[in-house]
Amino acid sequence: MRITLSVIKADVGSIGGHIKPSEGLLRRVREFVQEEGKAKGLIEDFYVSHTGDDIAILMSHKRGTGDADIHKLAWDAFKAGTEVAKAQGLYGAGQDLLKDAFAGNVKGMGPAVAEMEFDERPNEPFLFFAADKTDPGAYNLPLYLAFADPMHCSGLTLSPSMADGFKFTIMDVEYTEGDRIIELNAPEELYDIAALLRDNERFVVESIHSRRTGEIAVAVSTSRLHNIAGRYTGKDDPVMLVRVQGDFPATGEVLSPFSIGHYVAGFMRGSHTGPLMPVKINSPVSYFDGPPLVSCLAFCVHEGKLTEPADAFDHPFWDYVRMRVSEKAMEMRRQGFSGAAMLPYSELEYGGIVQKMKKLDERFRVRGS
Ligand code: F6R
Ligand code: MG
Ligand code: MG
Repeated sequence: MRITLSVIKADVGSIGGHIKPSEGLLRRVREFVQEEGKAKGLIEDFYVSHTGDDIAILMSHKRGTGDADIHKLAWDAFKAGTEVAKAQGLYGAGQDLLKDAFAGNVKGMGPAVAEMEFDERPNEPFLFFAADKTDPGAYNLPLYLAFADPMHCSGLTLSPSMADGFKFTIMDVEYTEGDRIIELNAPEELYDIAALLRDNERFVVESIHSRRTGEIAVAVSTSRLHNIAGRYTGKDDPVMLVRVQGDFPATGEVLSPFSIGHYVAGFMRGSHTGPLMPVKINSPVSYFDGPPLVSCLAFCVHEGKLTEPADAFDHPFWDYVRMRVSEKAMEMRRQGFSGAAMLPYSELEYGGIVQKMKKLDERFRVRGS
């Protein structure tokens, strides 16, 4: 059976600052997708969750990627949620709905989207990742390590079905006139892939395909709110879908690189550097509006029906990782605004600093002239 998985996420308001959506808001989004989507036969199944202040709607359906009705369903669900957020006085109500009217596709309108269409395998396990207080480049390193490095993906050496490696499609997210992409093959072009993926703010993995079968393995949301709105509207908080097992890395191989807690862009005011903490689903944001967090739900989909999720980071092992990541976060925060603790000038998400720098610039003088 040909099936499409679509995950569309947005921040439409949260309790007590940018912490987490209210139960009422989540309930409204769930009800809306149930009534307008599942009950009417538009979608096969769905699952609504939150990671930090973002709500993600995961949907299975038969309509292909970029379908206007599916996107409209999510957009309208977030609109309905925004009404609850406003009525409850939640902070940042409707924050990520950047345009007034829906125009056929939520891409470029604020919400993040990751979608993939494929022929369902007899058993079809996949992972749904959602990250908050960071941007899409946060997945670059974990994807490189899971799909191209035998230090994390033992299947690259042990499984004949992965021996041909994977094709990485990488997007230049600074280019805003259209989708500027490059396709590079692992393992032959590993050094080129690494040379691009080191720059998380500019080059972002958009998708990965098996080179043996051509099947899609990964889809990442690549939108940059920074570029859409031209002003600060929150970091981009990316979602990602990853098919696992068989011709793809095993679930544990995809999870493995997340044990590093690598430093990513985001954290407080979207302007800092912090380690990415793997958290349980429905975790709130806390310390210094962070730390940047990532959740992972594992599902199987069968004839379009989703199983209940298994929470991949809900295990004693990840408690240990969370402790280590907390230490990394505190270590970085000890140096406050200095050097590597903050993002470069071009990535700062608050425009106020531009005015400040202008004023200070006028006060500079060259001694003796
Ligand atoms: C980062 C984020 C928060 C806010 C911060 C200030 O993505 O959402 O760190 O930037 O809480 O929020 P505002 O500007 O809404 O007062
Ligand atoms: Mg927010
Ligand atoms: Mg968010």
